[in-house]
This record gives sequence, C-alpha cells and structure tokens, in this order.
Amino acid sequence: MGNHKITIAIDGYSACGKSTLARELATRLDYTFIDSGAMYRGVTLFALRNNIIQGEAIDQKKLIELLPSISISFKKVGDTFRHLHLNNEDVEQEIRNKPVSDHVSPIAEIKEVRKFLVDQQQKMGRLGGIVMDGRDIGTVVFPNAELKIFVTANIEVRVQRRLDELKSKGIDSNANEVRDNLTQRDYIDSTRAESPLRKADDAVEIDNSDLTREQQLNLALELAQERLNSLIKS
Ligand code: CDP
Repeated sequence: MGNHKITIAIDGYSACGKSTLARELATRLDYTFIDSGAMYRGVTLFALRNNIIQGEAIDQKKLIELLPSISISFKKVGDTFRHLHLNNEDVEQEIRNKPVSDHVSPIAEIKEVRKFLVDQQQKMGRLGGIVMDGRDIGTVVFPNAELKIFVTANIEVRVQRRLDELKSKGIDSNANEVRDNLTQRDYIDSTRAESPLRKADDAVEIDNSDLTREQQLNLALELAQERLNSLIKS
C-alpha cells in the first residue's frame, strides 16, 4: 500500500475481537499493533502486587504516587507477538488472569492512570503506521486517526470467544464467570466519567457476530485502502 501510513483506531466492548482484528490488520499492513488494554491490565497487576487493591478498595493516592515507578512496554517474543512487560518482566500471561480482569475497569477509571497511559500511547503513535485497539482510541488518544472502527458483537458470541481464548492460553474459566466479567466491565467502561467507551462520530461500526476472522479483516483492509487512496489523491 505504498509509503503512506495512516493511524487506525479500533474501539469496542470487551472481548469483541478488537485485538485480533487490530493485530491481523497491523500484520497485513506492516504497521505496529498496540493493545492498549494490556497497558491498563499491566497497571492493575502492579496495583495487585503492591497491595494497592484490597478486596474492592483501591488506594488511589498510593497508586498515583507510585505511577512514575511503573514501566510498561511491549517487547518482541518470537517472530510475531509482542508481550507486555511490567518493569521489564514478561507478564503477558498473568495480565489475562481473573484477578486482573476483575479489577482492571475500576483502575482504568482513575484520571491520573489514564493520563499516564494515554501520554505513552500518543508517543507510540506519533509517526503513524499504527493500529491501536481499546476503548477511547478514536475519541481521546487519536481523535484525528484517518480510520476509526467501532467493533460490536452480541454477548454470547463474545463469551464464547473469550472462553476459547482463555482455554488456548491454559487459563481455567467458565461461561458464567466470563459473562459476569464482560457485562460488568462494559457497564463501568461506558458509564465512567473519564473517557467513557463510546463510538466516535466518524467511526465505522462493524458488528462481527456473524463474521469470520477473515471476513472482518477483509472489511477493515478495504476501509484502510480507501483511506490510503484518498490520502494519496489529496
Ligand atoms: O478483555 P478485553 O480484551 O476486551 O479488554 P482489554 O482491551 O484488555 O481492556 C481491559 C480493560 O482496560 C477494559 O475493560 C477497560 O476498563 C480498560 N481500557 C480502557 O479503559 N481504555 C483503553 N483504551 C483500553 C482498555
């Protein structure tokens, strides 16, 4: 697709296949893929390990004080996958576990945490050629992204996809547990005061409930090609 590189923002509800789409799109376009949710999960793991989360209570003051000591980065492992590293430790597996999934949305509500991570995300994307997925990418992180996609899928499809994903990673779970977690996170994510999940006005919505991975990828590739063509013409 030539030398022109655009920014692609992919947002949507929990477990709707955003990261899969973003990763495949980035591979096909030879762009960088960033899973912004992994970054919120990394901060949540840090909070769990440092007793900042006790039951349902979060010691926000302590977390905000300790933010400068948290380093979040993506490092290549093998040929294709980049794993999230928390203070240089590979935590890609641990951030997908239940304790992190259970606490990530309340952590992601904290204004200072968002600013800490959004600043880093914007730096990662300053040269374009990036596909980032999350909840506020098209609305807050990259409001000028040339292509914004809002992904949806019905809840039962999302539950099954997450169960399959966890199983493939050797993580034990069940449908009720996953459904409760997704529903609760969707509620917190879309009703929070700070950067709530919503479809950007200029985002294209893709409901992938009945689409295969390949079909959704082809749809997104067509949209990217359209944006690249109009960039070349202008
Ligand atoms: O489980 P799933 O892959 O759908 O979620 P995720 O992308 O790993 O994100 C985990 C959580 O991080 C979300 O439920 C949000 O609370 C938060 N998040 C956010 O607030 N903003 C983002 N840009 C990405 C994630």
